[in-house]
Amino acid sequence: MRAPRLLVFDSGVGGFSVVAAIRVRMPDAHVSYVADTAAFPYGELDAEALVGRALGVVMAAADRVRPDAIVIACNTASTLVLPPLRARFDIPIVGTVPAIKPAAAITTSGLISVLATPGTVKRDYTHALIDTFASHVEVTLVGAEHLAEQAERRMAGLAVDETVIADDARAAFVTHDGRRTDVVALACTHYPFLKSVLARLAPWPVTWIDPSEAIARRVSDVVGEPDADEEGGGPGDQPCLMTAQPDAQDVMSRALATLASHNGLAAPEHLAIDLGCQSA
Ligand code: DGL
Repeated sequence: MRAPRLLVFDSGVGGFSVVAAIRVRMPDAHVSYVADTAAFPYGELDAEALVGRALGVVMAAADRVRPDAIVIACNTASTLVLPPLRARFDIPIVGTVPAIKPAAAITTSGLISVLATPGTVKRDYTHALIDTFASHVEVTLVGAEHLAEQAERRMAGLAVDETVIADDARAAFVTHDGRRTDVVALACTHYPFLKSVLARLAPWPVTWIDPSEAIARRVSDVVGEPDADEEGGGPGDQPCLMTAQPDAQDVMSRALATLASHNGLAAPEHLAIDLGCQSA
């Protein structure tokens, strides 16, 4: 069997938290990346706009890289686009959904929080996960408006605003009847890049759930292990695509360039998309 070709999608750099975990688990996989940087942040898009963009971008990128599996490394998109994508592709589509089930399984105080984008906390998908897996605990949903942007800055090597980060995360820390939140699920793929800052600014220690490894395990399960004899591809085989024009002065371009280089992908290049194609 040849090494699997994976396409990882996010609105920005967040999906690289999943790419890093895939690299550890499947070091020989050919990983391509596509970021819908022209529409970032997805957390603020309405459902219809988000679905239209995500389908158009994933279809254009898949046309280019011909993947064996697609990873939607974006919680905000996964709450909406997995069914329409699965209807269009006959390859595995792996999504990223808030880690509510594991958080509810490990809490001892009975208070868990889900730190996500404003879009993810609104979606029926997220509320259905709570009803199914966490009805026995108290769940606080926190739609953070600025954390994804702060993660982009951090990965671009720029200073982050710790006041903004602390303000956005504060609502995740709840006290009730002498108990307090003890587990926070990082339900946006950008947030693991801020984990050490979040932990330092937290009013008390909690367990942070970063689902990247679990997603990588799932990817490995659905595509199988790569053949040890297979030659790995060079950077040219592993493009990093973005929907805005790359610009060395721009935060997202810089962050993507850094992470692409760290993960063995080529320098970011522009992907032209036809947003009419998804309705075909
Ligand atoms: N990384 C994305 C997620 O997992 C969202 C960031 C954004 O708002 O675009 O939800």
